[in-house]
Amino acid sequence: MGHTSTTRNRWAAELEARARTHWTQARTDALLRGKQVLIKPGDAAPLLRALGLLDADASLPPAQVRKYFQVNHMVGVLGPAFAELRARHPRVRLLDAGCGRSYLTLLLAWCGEHVWRHPVEVLGVDRNADVIDECRRRTELAQLDHVARFEVGALDDAAHHATGVHGVIALHACDTATCDAIAIGVARGAELVAVAPCCQAELARGWRALADAGADGELGPIWRTPHLRRETAAHLTDAMRMLLLRAAGYEVTAIEFIGAEHTRKNTLIRAMRRAEQDDAARREYQTLVRATGGVGLRLEERLRHL
Ligand SMILES: C[S@@+](CC[C@H](N)C(=O)[O-])C[C@H]1O[C@@H](n2cnc3c(N)ncnc32)[C@H](O)[C@@H]1O
Repeated sequence: MGHTSTTRNRWAAELEARARTHWTQARTDALLRGKQVLIKPGDAAPLLRALGLLDADASLPPAQVRKYFQVNHMVGVLGPAFAELRARHPRVRLLDAGCGRSYLTLLLAWCGEHVWRHPVEVLGVDRNADVIDECRRRTELAQLDHVARFEVGALDDAAHHATGVHGVIALHACDTATCDAIAIGVARGAELVAVAPCCQAELARGWRALADAGADGELGPIWRTPHLRRETAAHLTDAMRMLLLRAAGYEVTAIEFIGAEHTRKNTLIRAMRRAEQDDAARREYQTLVRATGGVGLRLEERLRHL
């Protein structure tokens, strides 16, 4: 958009002044209702306005409340993991896989600059060229262009990803793109891999094929019932992802990172690289695949051939 830094500084200063007036303690308390957040709306107005979360008067419209809490909570619950990365690396390099319109990417870049005060570089990758254009516009407005950059690319195309990344993060990367993010993290030796999966359909597709072929098994009623098939597949996919990450030497937890009123896709798989490969976890994965119909994740093969 070509604004000079003087124009952007003036824009940010005016917005911050409006935010100080708007975000009284009473308004902030009414929004947060006791929730702990990393970034209060009055403290990061230029970022939140650049992301389109705040209106021009610095208020947070109801339609943006869910996104505001989603990214805040995701970064918040990963706080100890990011603290570990900062303790180990003078400059922390992160990849936001399937970054969409850069909500998470720019929040991470902002935290590096204004909250943690530790050098952080974030690369956002998305296959949608239009959203990457929008990310770049937002980045310039939030004055984060020196720490955040963006590339158009498919996550399964390794050519797009810088080496030497310390953390790979993915928030609601569609379907198998979450597995792509995991594969990138493991292949690059990232110490942190954190994914909040979206619409996992790979197992459900396999089970549907079994049902269409007239196959039966203990889970047959689930294979044949589309809604239950999707819901069950989502949880089993995440259990398989956890086991594959453990097998690759990560310590893994799955938690609910935000209340279901903000998003139903509220599972966060958090993995820290700690150990050698874990063959017991690989066997557990194989047992789970056999027990649920013999359909597994392509991720297993990709990780095996790294
Ligand atoms: C639901 S949006 C989430 C965006 C962002 N992470 C957020 O939470 O705001 C999913 C994004 O993943 C991108 N995506 C899906 N599959 C991808 C792939 N294989 N490679 C790159 N980007 C992908 C889509 O273009 C979309 O922007």
